[in-house]
Parts: sequence; structure tokens; C-alpha cells
Amino acid sequence: MNLLFEAARWAPSASNNQPWRFAYGLRGDEGFAKIAAALVPFNRDWAEKAAALVVVASRSTVIRPEQGEVPNPFHSFDAGAAWGFLALQAHLSGLITHAMGGFDAKALAASLNLPEGYVIHAVVAVGHQGKVEDLPEALQARETPSTRLPLSETVGRGGFV
Ligand SMILES: Cc1cc2nc3c(=O)[nH]c(=O)nc-3n(C[C@H](O)[C@H](O)[C@H](O)COP(=O)(O)O)c2cc1C
Repeated sequence: MNLLFEAARWAPSASNNQPWRFAYGLRGDEGFAKIAAALVPFNRDWAEKAAALVVVASRSTVIRPEQGEVPNPFHSFDAGAAWGFLALQAHLSGLITHAMGGFDAKALAASLNLPEGYVIHAVVAVGHQGKVEDLPEALQARETPSTRLPLSETVGRGGFV
């Protein structure tokens, strides 16, 4: 796991604030059980088979010398970059990552002692690709390669499309 967190550590961030924080558990340990317990049942069904569950959070404020504690408008963007780096490193290491927004953020914050001023963005399952047959039938249908919008719909030269 350290290799993945090391990749995330090198993500760029506004003023190099590095607002991201990660908490994780490995399947079988207490941390994993706490994280899995906070997932919505739809996600828990498959994610509890992962090798690790990683919670991505970030601090929403920053301390400035003259202003004291002020909101950091870039904390989510920076945490997104950090999880992206983690995901790419996982891919390079032959692992799969799958982010989830379906979880009880309040329960997770309490069970993992999230410090004041931080927000949880996502839970990420990390592991090796499992077999489709091992999934509940309802989930097997989802196991087809996903597509992306063409660049013509997301990138504009000289203005947004
Ligand atoms: C912030 C975020 C929240 C997501 N929430 C869920 C979720 O709760 N459950 C789930 O099964 N997938 C979730 N996903 C996975 C996306 O649905 C998935 O990445 C997307 O459909 C593209 O598929 P791919 O990653 O297989 O290419 C989430 C992804 C992100 C980035």
C-alpha cells in the first residue's frame, strides 16, 4: 500500500498544501471492517471482497500567516489529483481501484476519528481483479468495459463546448 500512497503524496496541490488525508484498512483488520460497515449495502456486497479499502479525505481550510484559518477552495481538486495518482500507481502495480461515493460519511467520520475541518470524499476499493462469476447475479451485468465521452464533447479550443 505504501507504494500507492507514495504516488499520491507526489500529487501537486495549491500552494503545496497537500490537504489530502487517507485512512485505510486491509481485509481482515479492524479498519477494513469499520470502512466496510459504512458502505451502502450495494457497495459493501462487492467491496468487502477487496484487499484494501481506502478513505480519501481532505482539509477544507488552510492557515495563512496574516489571515489565520481560511477556506481552501482547492482542497477537493487536490484530493482528486492525489487519488488519481494513487489509482495510476495501482494500475502500474497490476491492481484495480474502484472509487465509491455510496457510504455513510457521518458514520465513517466517527468510526475513523476524522479530525475537525476535514471532509470525506470517497472510499476506494483496491485489489486484484476478481472473477465475474463470484459477483451476485445483479452485479454481473455491470461487468462490461465502460466508455467515455469523446473529446469533442469535453474539450474546446478557445472556449468551452
Ligand atoms: C467519486 C466517485 C464515486 C463513485 N461512486 C460509486 C459507487 O458508490 N458505487 C460504484 O459501484 N461505483 C462508483 N463509482 C465508480 C464509477 O461509477 C466508475 O468509475 C465509472 O462508471 C467509470 O467506470 P470505470 O472506472 O470502470 O471506467 C464512483 C466513482 C467516483 C470517481
